[in-house]
Amino acid sequence: IPVEPFDFVIFGGTGDLSERKLLPALYHRQRDHQFSEPTRIIGASRSKLTDTDFREFASKAIRAHVAESDIEEGELNRFLDRLSYISIDASSGEGFSRLKKVLGDSDAVRAFYLAVAPALFGEIAQKLRDNGLITEQSRIIVEKPIGRDLASARQLNDTIGSAFGEHQIFRIDHYLGKETVQNLAALRFANALYEPLWNSAHIDHVQITVAETVGLEDRITYYDKAGALRDMVQNHMLQLLCLVAMEPPSSMDADAVRDEKLKVLRSLKRINGQEAPKHTVRGQYKAGASATGAVKGYLDELGNASSRTETFVAIKAEIGNWRWAGVPFYLRTGKRLASRVSEIVIEFKPIPHNIFGESAGNVSANQLVIRLQPNEGVKQFIMIKDPGPGGMRLRPISLDVSFAEAFTGRNPDAYERLIMDVVRGNQTLFMRRDEVEAAWNWIDPIQNAWTENNQEVQSYTAGTWGPSASIALIERDGRTWHES
Ligand code: BG6
Repeated sequence: IPVEPFDFVIFGGTGDLSERKLLPALYHRQRDHQFSEPTRIIGASRSKLTDTDFREFASKAIRAHVAESDIEEGELNRFLDRLSYISIDASSGEGFSRLKKVLGDSDAVRAFYLAVAPALFGEIAQKLRDNGLITEQSRIIVEKPIGRDLASARQLNDTIGSAFGEHQIFRIDHYLGKETVQNLAALRFANALYEPLWNSAHIDHVQITVAETVGLEDRITYYDKAGALRDMVQNHMLQLLCLVAMEPPSSMDADAVRDEKLKVLRSLKRINGQEAPKHTVRGQYKAGASATGAVKGYLDELGNASSRTETFVAIKAEIGNWRWAGVPFYLRTGKRLASRVSEIVIEFKPIPHNIFGESAGNVSANQLVIRLQPNEGVKQFIMIKDPGPGGMRLRPISLDVSFAEAFTGRNPDAYERLIMDVVRGNQTLFMRRDEVEAAWNWIDPIQNAWTENNQEVQSYTAGTWGPSASIALIERDGRTWHES
């Protein structure tokens, strides 16, 4: 269904995010006929470009990042026709008046996407306000890092909040735009099957793994200052944990969902200096191998032998509420791991009594495995009798739903969904200010404990599953990481 015409302004229009994600996502929405006239897309950045230059940039970006079979020349041209460019210097404020002229006094939805360094968020928001560019129908979109700790996140939220109301601020966590992540809500709340079991009486523990095979890529400066805890846990991993752990919201309304996620974040038990060594593992990769061959260690890649930035983290998290008391959530994420896989494993409690005797073999606990990427799908492991006349022998098999097999058609990128939600004004998949701050409030003590205790950064060979301490973290409790 087409949406009402809107104006979409991309600050950092010629940057990496715009090239790889935003322009391709917008093109896909054009191709699926979601735009009505006169929808406009305006690129803004410091470079002095013409409209034609920007269209060429966009055309190249789309050809490079959209599957060839999805390029329809007619639609691509119609898309490029929507584009224009304005040179804007966020610091000096030069160019904002030109933007004002272009946007005019239209009361269409106005989305300002800040695909720029967070240091510029505040400045741009305030210049938009001072130049009278913010209408009731305006929205601002920002992406992490939203601060590097609670104090800086608050400051950033304050500055943006001085120009835009909370209902106009869309904080992206692109994991929330992923199809399978949204499917978590469907699995839990559109089925009667799981919810009655979804608590400490029936669930033994939960594992959340987000493993990557890539290394630093070209984000040296950012990554070395952030590390895996800030880069992945504060946002993506905690959002996943919230979706698994939250109480059923009364509806999918933005605040109904975000209220429930917030309660989970606030119920996370703080990990203090004494607990950190037992509850957390920091790791850093050393030289090893990836699927494509030998790879350098982190320090070599970085060119700085003294960095103690973690490229891996494992955490045993606990939620202090009735539903989850005594159910650990084991989280792990890292760069240069053995394979690229994001998944959530719900392990149910063992059966209370085995009637089959030893000869039938072990009865393994039921596991529900939600595969977020790649090979999206859901597997429910159950025990069955091995067929044959040889007596009762048990083994686990999986009821397996592969989304690629069950559904034909393209799996849209997270940004396509998120951008259209911004235009429609639906904040359900965006983080509210208090959520971001509550997440930092849990992360900060861990970060502080690491510094105060000088907690060891354990090295692991690139291409493995991380430091052995991560295995010990879960095996100490008599459990094991699910083999992906
Ligand atoms: C980003 C992190 O938010 O997410 C990156 O900054 C990480 O370090 C990326 O590589 C992972 O996203 P995806 O969608 O590839 O799983």
